[in-house]
Amino acid sequence: MPSYVITGVSRGLGWEFLRQISANPNNQVIGLVRDKKATDKRVSDQLAGRTNVNILEADLSDYDALKASVAATSRITGGSLDYLIANGAYVSKWDAYDPIGVLAEDPKELEKQLVTLTTVNIVGNINLFKLYIPLLLKGQAKKVISLTSGHADLDSINLIDIELAAGYSISKAGMNIAVAKFSAQYKKDGLLFFSLSPGVVDVGSQADATPEQMQKLGAMAAGFMKAYPEWKGPAQPEDAIRDMLAVIEKASIEDGFGGSFVSHHGDKHWL
Ligand SMILES: NC(=O)c1ccc[n+]([C@@H]2O[C@H](COP(=O)([O-])OP(=O)(O)OC[C@H]3O[C@@H](n4cnc5c(N)ncnc54)[C@H](OP(=O)(O)O)[C@@H]3O)[C@@H](O)[C@H]2O)c1
Repeated sequence: MPSYVITGVSRGLGWEFLRQISANPNNQVIGLVRDKKATDKRVSDQLAGRTNVNILEADLSDYDALKASVAATSRITGGSLDYLIANGAYVSKWDAYDPIGVLAEDPKELEKQLVTLTTVNIVGNINLFKLYIPLLLKGQAKKVISLTSGHADLDSINLIDIELAAGYSISKAGMNIAVAKFSAQYKKDGLLFFSLSPGVVDVGSQADATPEQMQKLGAMAAGFMKAYPEWKGPAQPEDAIRDMLAVIEKASIEDGFGGSFVSHHGDKHWL
């Protein structure tokens, strides 16, 4: 029975990973969340009868909670894990609408936000990987997937002059390097680590944006369309997860995916 641990399954892409993967009763799916009670309710309301779903509580910034989740996962799976999907992330609103020079006008807030982005999106995931490696080594698939973003791609930033999301992009770029370092160390043990971007997906995060903020996002989207004329705007979670699961299934160390940073197409085509 293939087993999956997925972080951040309360909503957005994490929820859709949970929904699609657990639709196959042969898969055992363990979702990590910050509020177990709320997600248990969502599972019983929307995925009633799925006995292959288990929800555990662990904030990525809480090392002891992550460690406890490994012990709980081991009890569920019998001591192994096939897939670890590091989806949960601090997706800040702070940097979503302003360029870095404006953000840096408030140095205290800049520092506070960068510390949180680093703590959750980099340190949290490094701890997550390290703690789950013993189970992964006993699994069959041996795949670790880190959700990243095309925002961390230097060529795209420079080609499109993407000003927004500086702090978030820095955290994703940093984690991409951590993923490559894990790959460098554990490839010889058969563990595949790689960073996977979903493209741009509508998870409702702009629901409370002001007209001025929407204008800034529109300007960025216009830049995306210029670079990718075939792009039709944000995808739906259902399609993005289907595309990413296809990449996860096909990716292998033998085909050069170890430590790589790829899109939902399995290449460097970010949209
Ligand atoms: N949507 C896109 O267009 C897009 C594009 C590129 C990359 N991504 C990446 O895809 C992943 C999912 O994104 P999304 O769009 O689904 O984002 P989202 O809707 O903001 O969901 C983020 C998830 O992460 C969890 N989370 C936040 N802080 C956490 C913490 N400290 N510890 C544990 N979990 C925490 C949230 O849980 P709570 O409910 O408790 O807050 C939530 O489940 C992220 O890694 C994101 O960077 C998304």
